[in-house]
Formats: sequence, structure tokens, C-alpha cells
Amino acid sequence: MHVTTLSGALKGVSAHIVRIEVRMRKGGFPGFHMVGLADTAVRESRVRVLTALEYSGYPHGESCITVNLAPADLPKSGSALDLALAVGLLGASGIVPASSLGSLLFLGELGLRGSLRPVRGVLPCALRARQEGLAGVVVPSPNAREAAMVERLETRGAPDLASVVSHLAGAQPLPVSISRQAHAVRQGALDMSDVRGQAPAKRAMEVAAAGGHNVMLTGPPGSGKTMLARAYATILPPLTEEEALETASIYSAAGLLGGLAEVTVDRPFRAPHHSVSNAGLVGGGNPPRPGEVSLAHNGVLFLDEMPEFGGMTLDLLMEPVEEGHVTIVRAAGRARFPARFSLVGAMNPCRCGQDGSPRGGCSCSHNDRRRYASRISGPLMDRIDIRVFVPPLSYREMSGPGSGESSSAIRGRVQAARALHIERMNEHGLPGRSNATMPAASVERLCELDGAGCRLVERVVDELGLSARGYSRLLRVARTIADLDGTQAVEEPHVAEAVQYARPAAETHRR
Ligand SMILES: Nc1ncnc2c1ncn2[C@@H]1O[C@H](COP(=O)(O)OP(=O)(O)OP(=O)(O)O)[C@@H](O)[C@H]1O
Ligand SMILES: [Mg+2]
Ligand SMILES: [Zn+2]
Repeated sequence: MHVTTLSGALKGVSAHIVRIEVRMRKGGFPGFHMVGLADTAVRESRVRVLTALEYSGYPHGESCITVNLAPADLPKSGSALDLALAVGLLGASGIVPASSLGSLLFLGELGLRGSLRPVRGVLPCALRARQEGLAGVVVPSPNAREAAMVERLETRGAPDLASVVSHLAGAQPLPVSISRQAHAVRQGALDMSDVRGQAPAKRAMEVAAAGGHNVMLTGPPGSGKTMLARAYATILPPLTEEEALETASIYSAAGLLGGLAEVTVDRPFRAPHHSVSNAGLVGGGNPPRPGEVSLAHNGVLFLDEMPEFGGMTLDLLMEPVEEGHVTIVRAAGRARFPARFSLVGAMNPCRCGQDGSPRGGCSCSHNDRRRYASRISGPLMDRIDIRVFVPPLSYREMSGPGSGESSSAIRGRVQAARALHIERMNEHGLPGRSNATMPAASVERLCELDGAGCRLVERVVDELGLSARGYSRLLRVARTIADLDGTQAVEEPHVAEAVQYARPAAETHRR
């Protein structure tokens, strides 16, 4: 008898359908053959599946079994195919009706006693199943909520193989998992109003949030840089539904959507330590798993004490910062992980940390300072649109009451500015989610300077010796500031504020 069941395999963070064709013949030489580019984990699947079947009361007897995994050129790894393989064998021996199999996707690792264990990548597989028009998915119970994030797809969670068999045989249906509405769960996070003083830095972060700009906070120890960066996530607009699924898919592929997973519309905030490995930062391993840059997709990547990461590690950030994704090359092929994040960096102005402090006291030589600043390469620094100096707090600020607006008030303005941007991009028929990613070719067209704004730009480009990239960076930031102001034209004050953010941070405070 010949039966086909469906499962899924990850490639990067997207999934592909795997067809498992099981052919079973009585007589001839008994045996079990598997063909179609499978890794060791999949080959071990044979043992797990046969043992689980036997334990659940379905010995396979003396048949000759051939299993073909298709498409042959798609690398298949891991143990997620177990359930589909087991169900295929049961279908081929007539224990479950083969007619019930074609429209379902099966995922899950089998324990030797037939229990179903959770696997990575359930969400992307479920998204693919819906895209392929399948009716439903059957997954291990702990993955059920994750799969149920996908609407208009029937998700059933099963504790073990026996319950899947009863379901397919029509004896005892498995419960349908209910999808939950995405909602915000970030609790106990730092609010912008918790940060005292630092009004200019808060304003810079509002601009960064509105335009999706990368930002660098420079200042002496204890001035509140880490605090500001943590509060940054709370002034960003919530994820759209599409973004929430994108981000959750990455967490699923990383195996980080555990049983308690909830879809959240909170933007991810990742703050890897500077001792992070290269693979931990940008992804890697075999099979490749997403790294911090991808876990920060649609959110924030915060690099505290940025110079400590080291030049080689920071260089790895160029691809994601520039392209919005990372490519991981393996013998089995290349995987591409999405990695579009806002970069927030924090650093001291110099090794001793006191350069630029109004109280003075920097003990570094000119060369020390130069060397320290050069730990972040020019090309990377060039992609940080907003640089801001965070001075030490005065006693009055330190001892006074909490100050300033709440994150939600700031977030309101951020959302309004982003809406203007999206409207403008739609009018011009351009893609783009933020001013920071505005196509270089259209920057001048989209940043309509008024007369005085134009004259100021002319002056500062020469004065600051801005490169072509520096010039469009200035225009993008000015555009964002005008959006926050709600004006169509980019005016002189908008440019003037953008200039403040364009200077190398070490200079801002020395002027
Ligand atoms: N602006 C501020 N408002 C309220 N508390 C602050 C502020 N700045 C600093 N603090 C207090 O000082 C502590 C240190 O602040 P934070 O870690 O943000 O400083 P930092 O600039 O990151 O310093 P470092 O350069 O040493 O990393 C905070 O935990 C907080 O208690
Ligand atoms: Mg800090
Ligand atoms: Zn110093």
C-alpha cells in the first residue's frame, strides 16, 4: 500500500512542506529504507518511530518498507518529521484511513513510548500549511498555542501517538486549539518618566523611534545610558499583526517559543553581552539557528558598552544593518534570517569615561581618545543616524522628582509621525517602513526642503565635511523631525536639530 503524509522543514526561518511517501509490501525481504536527503536526526527517526509504534501496540511485522522524503533537494533535519512518518506507516498498514491524511500537516518528535515532544519551527510550518491550503495541523500539545497563532487553520495538539491515531480513526477527536489575540505583555519595563533629566537625550530617542534611526548614546558612567536604552522599547509603536508573526516565526525557529508562548505585539528588545559569540550574535550552528540580530527583528538591538564588543564582532553587524538580514552559509546550503532592527549603542566617550563632562577630569591623552573612538569602525558609525551625548546629572536633577512625559505620551507622537511617513511612501508608490530605510535615490525627493532649510543644509555639509552618506543621513533625520512636527516641508529648525545629531558624539559636547 502507498500513502503520502505531510510534514514541514525549516529553511532559515521559513518552512517548506515535506511529503513523506510510504510504500509497504508484504513478502520479499523485510526492511526499512529511507531516501531523500535526510540528516542523522531524521535517519534516527526510523528507530524512534518503529519503537514508538511497537510500544503503542502497532508492531510493523515483516513488511518491506520504503520511505521517500520529497522534495529531494530540500535539506531535512531534526526530529519534527517523526509524527508524519509514524502516521504514514499506520496509513500504509490500514490502521488509520489514508483518506484522512492528505489535508493535514503533522509535526512532532516521538519519544520511545509514543509520547509527543515539542519541536522548533512549528509557527513557520503552520503558516506554510495555511499558505498551501491545508485544512489543519496536528502538533505536540506544548506547541499547540504556537500553531494556533495562525488564523484560519485548524490546530490540534496531541499528547501522544495513540491520541493521534484515535483522532484519525474517528474514535476520539483531538481538541481544537483556539488562537489568541496578540496583545502587549511587557510589564514592569522602565518608563521614560523614570529617567530623570536628560531631556535632550529623550528627545533624540523620540526622533530615533519616529524614524527608525539607529542611535548612539555617549556619556560618562552612571549618566543613565543603559536606562534610556531600556526605556526606548516602550516608546516604539506596537508590532503590526504581520510583524508580530514574522518575529514570532524567528523565535519559533530558534526554539524559544516554549509552551507558554503568547503572541506579543511588544517589539523585541535584545541586549546581548559583549562576550557574545559570533554565532550567538548573527546566527549559526548546524542546522543554522537565528542569532541576536534576528531575535531583535522588528525591534531593538541594544549594544551596551559597544566598544567592548571588538571590531571583528561589530563588523558582522554590517550586513544586517545594511540589508536587514543575515546570510549563513553551510555545506547544506545557505540560510537567510531576517534581521531588521534599530541599533541602539551606548559607550563612554573615552577610556576613563570623563571626556566632555562639564566637571572635566578626563585623564586620557588625545591619542587615547582617538584610539578609543576608533574601536567602532567608520563604516558602522556611518550608519548610526543619531548621536547624542548624555551628560552626568546635576544634583538638582538627581534629587528632584521624576521628570518628563510618560512613554505612552511619547509613543503617541512617534506613531503619528510614522503614519505620515507611510502615507508619503504610499503616495510615491515606494516600499519602506521608516525614514531610516528610505531608498537613497528618493531621499532628496521625499525631503522637500524649504528655502531656509536648503541654505542651512548647504552650509553644514561643507562645515562638517559630510560625505554623501552623511548628507542623506542628515536629510532623513530632518525629515523625521518634520514628521514629528507634522509639516510637509522640511524647515530650517528641523535641519538645525538634525545637525545636532549628525556630529560625532565626541564633538557634540566639546563645542
Ligand atoms: N537620568 C537618570 N534618572 C534616574 N536614575 C538614574 C539616571 N541616571 C542614572 N541613574 C541611576 O544610576 C544607575 C546607573 O545608570 P545607568 O546604568 O543607566 O548608567 P550608564 O550611563 O549606563 O553608566 P555606564 O556607563 O557605567 O554603563 C541607574 O540604575 C539609576 O539608578
Ligand atoms: Mg550602562
Ligand atoms: Zn578620558
